Amino acid sequence: MTSTANDANTCCIVTGAAGFVGSHLAERLLSLGCRVIGIDDFSSGCWENMSAFEKQPGFSFHECSVTSPGLLAEMRERHPAAACCFHLAAIVSVPYSVEHPEETMEVDCHAAVSLLREAEELGFRRFVFAGSAAEYGDDGRLPLREEYASEKTRHLSPYGRAKYLASAAVASSRIGVALRCFNIYGPRQDPGSPYSGVISRFVDMALQERSYTVFGDGMQTRDFVFVSDVVDAYLCAAGLSGAVPAPPGVYNVGTGRATSIVELAETISAVEGRRARIEHLPERAGDIRHSVSVPEALERAAGWRSRVSLADGLKETVSWARTAGSR
Ligand SMILES: NC(=O)c1ccc[n+]([C@@H]2O[C@H](COP(=O)([O-])OP(=O)(O)OC[C@H]3O[C@@H](n4cnc5c(N)ncnc54)[C@H](O)[C@@H]3O)[C@@H](O)[C@H]2O)c1
Repeated sequence: MTSTANDANTCCIVTGAAGFVGSHLAERLLSLGCRVIGIDDFSSGCWENMSAFEKQPGFSFHECSVTSPGLLAEMRERHPAAACCFHLAAIVSVPYSVEHPEETMEVDCHAAVSLLREAEELGFRRFVFAGSAAEYGDDGRLPLREEYASEKTRHLSPYGRAKYLASAAVASSRIGVALRCFNIYGPRQDPGSPYSGVISRFVDMALQERSYTVFGDGMQTRDFVFVSDVVDAYLCAAGLSGAVPAPPGVYNVGTGRATSIVELAETISAVEGRRARIEHLPERAGDIRHSVSVPEALERAAGWRSRVSLADGLKETVSWARTAGSR
């Protein structure tokens, strides 16, 4: 992605900056010359994720919750140039959301809508929201198109429901873009987190030379998208990619390619130069069998498409995990 002269002046707020995706987004924005205001409460993120850029002069950080009333107005007072908000902070654990539905609705939906309304009132140029494939619930129509998620969707968790409601509000705002991201993977994804994707857990198992534990037959499929591709999508959504900004709306962010869990284990093993040993565990109740996106809407709107192959993304992830593990 190339930057334009105007991009260098943009001052962006990134909520969830200490998280997996937020830290990559903040780092890229800084590399484009943007100023970045990071916000996080460290509920699932960590300082370590920001170590590559936390000392850069263009970066400032505020430890607080996105549920704090008047947060964007306060940020605007401290940073008058703030013009763009990337809202990624969220309760990301699906099991936690099932146990704490009200808190999840508060953080993942109500806080997002409040920030959006503030951004509108303050004259922000863009509000980009981290939606999720969980917004499609158990919709069996594959591949998944943006219009399939609706009021009638049977969401499988409060997380999916909250993300759907927030995305719908964002997408109907004149400054809003909601990115419905599929299974993101890459460096900095915490294998210990209950939400962490299968990839970070498998990479961990591979490095420890353990067999991969697969729930059910392993033929369930997912749409795995590398984190740098997701960051590109955020830039497109905000008009910071050098191409036309995506018009307000909701967009899938995936590869359009379904990968089975067994194929994933085999690809990681091939990257590692080993044979995959798979141990099958009983199927998990409530797991979606297949999930894959139709990713073309964001390509049509703003020229985005995923570029990193699964093998290349896995190589980078494994190499990061090796270094992280040796620290
Ligand atoms: N990782 C994926 O596969 C994936 C897929 C689809 C959507 N998403 C969405 O992308 C966003 C980023 O996900 P991630 O994988 O980087 O997760 P993450 O847990 O690494 O990052 C989320 C960040 O938000 C922070 N946070 C949580 N609640 C907060 C609050 N109330 N106030 C301030 N900060 C708070 C956490 O401390 C963390 O740093 C989330 O909104 C998630 O729902 C992720």
